[in-house]
Amino acid sequence: MRKLKIYIATSLDGYIADHNGNIEWLTGFPNPEQTDYGYADFLAGIDTTLMGYKTYQDVLKLSETFPYPGLANYIFSRDKSHQDTEFVTFVKEEAGAFVSRLKSLPGKDIWLIGGGELNAAILEHDLVDEMIIHTMPVVLGAGRSVFAGIPMEKTFGLESVKTYSSGVVEARYTRS
Ligand SMILES: NC(=O)c1ccc[n+]([C@@H]2O[C@H](COP(=O)([O-])OP(=O)(O)OC[C@H]3O[C@@H](n4cnc5c(N)ncnc54)[C@H](OP(=O)(O)O)[C@@H]3O)[C@@H](O)[C@H]2O)c1
Repeated sequence: MRKLKIYIATSLDGYIADHNGNIEWLTGFPNPEQTDYGYADFLAGIDTTLMGYKTYQDVLKLSETFPYPGLANYIFSRDKSHQDTEFVTFVKEEAGAFVSRLKSLPGKDIWLIGGGELNAAILEHDLVDEMIIHTMPVVLGAGRSVFAGIPMEKTFGLESVKTYSSGVVEARYTRS
């Protein structure tokens, strides 16, 4: 079965956006190795993305052209009046049921882009197989949590850790 993966960057205190929802702090680090932090390899293994509505709004603001045009992109919102676009489909059914079905279909792996609220909803249904978390060397103090409001404990096994000269730590986990 295809896997559902989180590939995300957090602060040292577990935030994916600051208290204003900004992510500029992600890009301010020197990158002497000129690495893409495994992004191109990761992207080559997926054909589907999942986004919460707030993350989708940010993605639209951040780039002039939609960044994932060749992929199947699904947006989650409780407002069922949103119209699909050339690039995205709004999910009309309950998130857990939809993602379970998606995982059972043939295809490459699925990228759960986020944000924290959608991550928590999918994790609550135990549908996350793998997490690749890049921890940035910054404390934000407040912001949007990587798993916003997850009501129960979920354990993962550590597969690997990689460090970068930028101070970024990449940890890969699988569901135990
Ligand atoms: N650091 C990173 O790598 C990274 C990655 C991704 C996102 N981000 C940032 O994270 C922030 C957004 O995260 P967030 O947690 O605030 O919001 P989010 O998860 O992106 O979006 C939340 C919205 O998604 C919809 N939603 C969530 N769970 C749902 C469910 N179970 N069923 C149906 N709809 C659901 C709801 O939309 P409606 O309100 O329309 O119902 C909800 O308000 C942004 O600032 C973004 O830029 C950072």
